[in-house]
Amino acid sequence: SSCLIIALSAVCVLSSNKPFHGHKVLRIKPTSYEQIKTLTDLEHDLQLDFWHLPHVDNDHMDVRVAPKFVQHLNNTLRKLKLDFEELIVDVQVLVDRETKSNRKRRAIRELEDYTKHFLSYSEINSFLFQIVNLVPTAELININKTNERRDTYVIKLGTPMGRWKPAIFIDAGIHAREWIAPATAINFIYQLAINPTRDAVITDLLRKFDFYIAPLVNADGYEHSRSSTSNRLWRKNRSRAANSHCIGVDINRNFGYEWNPAAGGSSQPCSDLFSGAFKFSEPESRNLRNFMLSKKPDLKGYLTLHSYGLYWLYPWGFSDTATAVDDNKLRAIARTSVNAMSKQYTIGASAKVLYVAAGGSDDYAKAVAGIPYSYTVELPPSSSAFNGFILSESKIPEIAQDTLKGLKAYAYSIHDYI
Ligand code: ARG
Ligand code: ZN
Repeated sequence: SSCLIIALSAVCVLSSNKPFHGHKVLRIKPTSYEQIKTLTDLEHDLQLDFWHLPHVDNDHMDVRVAPKFVQHLNNTLRKLKLDFEELIVDVQVLVDRETKSNRKRRAIRELEDYTKHFLSYSEINSFLFQIVNLVPTAELININKTNERRDTYVIKLGTPMGRWKPAIFIDAGIHAREWIAPATAINFIYQLAINPTRDAVITDLLRKFDFYIAPLVNADGYEHSRSSTSNRLWRKNRSRAANSHCIGVDINRNFGYEWNPAAGGSSQPCSDLFSGAFKFSEPESRNLRNFMLSKKPDLKGYLTLHSYGLYWLYPWGFSDTATAVDDNKLRAIARTSVNAMSKQYTIGASAKVLYVAAGGSDDYAKAVAGIPYSYTVELPPSSSAFNGFILSESKIPEIAQDTLKGLKAYAYSIHDYI
């Protein structure tokens, strides 16, 4: 590349630090399934990154494309007679703006400061260690290491009652670039552990349930998305495939229930949706699986936090023709949960309202780990937002507070069914 030729020159350093320079996000309005298929089939050749896939009639598709493929994609769209608009003219401009605002942040001094920022892996750990030092009933469980040997933690929060209690498991950060998810999980931990407003609902819920929260499942991918010299839009983990130069498996395609790369995943290591060479090939998915199974009789609820789009989804994800036997109950709980929030969430079986994707943690939780009330929560912004994954830190408190309302309603709702 040009970097080799002009090694050490400022231009080289600059361009390697600006990986999304000239990258565009196009909003496309497909009108048929064939058009959608033609476009998703180009993922590999044109190095496309789908930010939003259409799920119902009249929905749109958002796709990031590198400058060298813009022309090719434009031609394809013209051939398909497809309407589109340029949603983001230059992704790098957004990334730079985000980096700049994050750099301006003042040092973390108090515990509460941790709830206001996109934290690093080590900051998340410091936060967790401080919480368990401060709160006698809080417990830290190390659920094992990631590919790059980072320890992964689950924190247990709940008031011991001297009898059996049902438990709710919440995880975040399965996908690296979805930064608002770990930030929301950190806020949940802070609110539940410290209860700064002495909220009677929180006190009550801690007596009814034990909460297990894993704020950062895919720490390797997350750190990769944070490093200014790498890829802010990284989604997968960081494992090396055997026969490819490409890195990473999509952890939410790697779980072992109805695992199938052909159903919304990929068997190509270079794809952003690579399902892995086989089910549970990845330490990150195995860590979650082992934890879920170790708490099997206790766990009644599971929320896996993702972004973005404002969806509160339930199984099944592996097929859009399969319907859970308790579909009505799942929908009622979802309805109750989203009604408690001010944001307008879409609810439904994930393969029916979003897209088919086999190998998700939610399906595994319900089908194999025996957690009856299993949900994938796609946090803000809405699917029509233009900035998707790249969100100002100033949005964290309102999103976390709104989602906490959803969590409370969810917990009460499932309590009625246990
Ligand atoms: N956006 C999530 C993903 O693509 C949705 C997962 C929904 N669950 C599922 N099992 N498909 O991974
Ligand atoms: Zn996700």
